[in-house]
Amino acid sequence: MEDQAEKLREIMRQKKNVPGDAPGDAESDVSGDAGSDTSGADISGEKPIRARNGGSKARIITVTSGKGGVGKTNLSVNMALAFARLGKKVVVMDADLGLANVNVMLNMIPKYNLYHVIKKQKTIKEILVETEYGISIVAGASGFSQIANMGEEERQDFINELDTLSNVDIIIIDTSAGVSSNVLDFIAAADDAVIITTPEPTAITDAYGIIKIIATEYDTLDMSLKLVVNRAKSAADAKNVADRMINIAGQFLNLKVDYLGFIYDDPAVPQAVLRQKPFMVVDPRCKASISVQHIVERMDRTRPRESRGFGAMLRKFFGRGEGA
Ligand SMILES: Nc1ncnc2c1ncn2[C@@H]1O[C@H](COP(=O)(O)OP(=O)(O)OP(=O)(O)O)[C@@H](O)[C@H]1O
Ligand SMILES: [Mg+2]
Repeated sequence: MEDQAEKLREIMRQKKNVPGDAPGDAESDVSGDAGSDTSGADISGEKPIRARNGGSKARIITVTSGKGGVGKTNLSVNMALAFARLGKKVVVMDADLGLANVNVMLNMIPKYNLYHVIKKQKTIKEILVETEYGISIVAGASGFSQIANMGEEERQDFINELDTLSNVDIIIIDTSAGVSSNVLDFIAAADDAVIITTPEPTAITDAYGIIKIIATEYDTLDMSLKLVVNRAKSAADAKNVADRMINIAGQFLNLKVDYLGFIYDDPAVPQAVLRQKPFMVVDPRCKASISVQHIVERMDRTRPRESRGFGAMLRKFFGRGEGA
């Protein structure tokens, strides 16, 4: 780990003047074990603010990763807090199929979760739980995959239910890691898809894997993919990882990925996790908190191309949308 950044810089120096890398080779070099030409990358991540259509529709942000345990839930929850501090009404939805991540991180045991909504025992508003931190959460359900088995009418009812969340400004969806069709559909239908990785080669390779699948499976023209590098030792370390990923995605997938920013590797994060409180609350001045604040400020300055709203997202989710 210690000299990884230097090793990568060395590889880049060596590669810099080599024209026309063999595609297969360069693509498989995404993890940094070999290397690729990253010169001239534009990783500013800045986009002009675009006017939103209705103005009242929620901006939907998914947070996902290739590899598990790279920081999705921490980013989702703390990003929500940072948005809330900017005056936004934010909901974090736990769409992880496995453990109920978000409520564990917030030390909450909601009585009801998405399962009860799918089963029509509760409305989405009834299961929405306010936290003491100024954000609301929708707890996850381990039976979330049941959505796939719903009938036509049930689906429509569920869409209508979820659409009632549209009166919030931002919905952050913490997805499970890796490639399940639910996760992919969430990503494809969101306004912003945040892909998070750490500088570890395995995490980078898996992140590239999910980006590749998104690019192959969907028309990504109206989707904004944003990369966050978590647990970085330095800005340069993170930038190297992002440069490489963005260049290779551009070169081999013809996909534009924006570098949204990085989060420092910070002992305050596991400490906060142990206390079951967001690190933004435990230590708002720690390096990780400042990093997330920067990420959110950057996101807030950019707008999705068009706000499609939760209903549109869900219609797309169920494969019934226009041109999904
Ligand atoms: N910036 C950071 N600095 C230090 N440690 C971190 C950082 N981000 C995450 N971690 C560590 O990684 C652990 C996993 O983070 P988190 O639960 O957010 O990942 P995840 O991607 O949601 O995992 P899963 O795939 O299991 O849902 C944290 O409990 C913490 O110990
Ligand atoms: Mg998680």
